[in-house]
Amino acid sequence: MITSDGVYGPNIMSAEWTYLLAYKPATLAVSIGKDTATFSNIRESKEFGVSLCSSEQSVMASVSGTYTGKNVDKIAALGEIGFTFYQAKKIRVPMVSFAAANIECELSQQIIFGENTLLIGGIIESSVSGKDPLAYHRGAYWTMNHRLERSSEEDRKKVREIVESHRKENR
Ligand SMILES: Cc1cc2nc3c(=O)[nH]c(=O)nc-3n(C[C@H](O)[C@H](O)[C@H](O)COP(=O)(O)O)c2cc1C
Repeated sequence: MITSDGVYGPNIMSAEWTYLLAYKPATLAVSIGKDTATFSNIRESKEFGVSLCSSEQSVMASVSGTYTGKNVDKIAALGEIGFTFYQAKKIRVPMVSFAAANIECELSQQIIFGENTLLIGGIIESSVSGKDPLAYHRGAYWTMNHRLERSSEEDRKKVREIVESHRKENR
């Protein structure tokens, strides 16, 4: 979720195209449609929140990704549905309570890619809750609590041997 405040008031949108770019300096990027209320808000305020939904927040992702803050107060609607928000610590933006992670960003750069703009944000505050994150895959919401079995020691040994045999100094 990307949260913002600006011309369209407090707002929230779903954004799967969100990436951590670097630890030092802590930086992330989000690719946002130029026509969204979120883009107009951030262009004005130069700050935004990023909340990684927990597996209990799929309805929030669905509402935030379906409606636009240009004509719906999604923060108020989500509040009535039962979700809660808190005021960000370092920026003037609502943040999602009980999310898996919450990050506060100051806009540092913008790069235009066709209909989307990559907004690059310096991370100035972050927290994790330990809740399971929500996953979005093949147009549906999933939990991520099933850990894949580790391959057998024999298979892992085989893989190590193959990789070692491809060391560049062995060529
Ligand atoms: C799961 C999901 C992921 C989405 N990811 C993105 C995204 O990465 N970038 C984007 O521009 N829109 C994305 N969208 C669409 C926006 O959330 C949608 O256009 C939203 O209405 C914009 O809200 P706003 O106008 O209030 O800012 C996504 C929608 C869903 C449901």
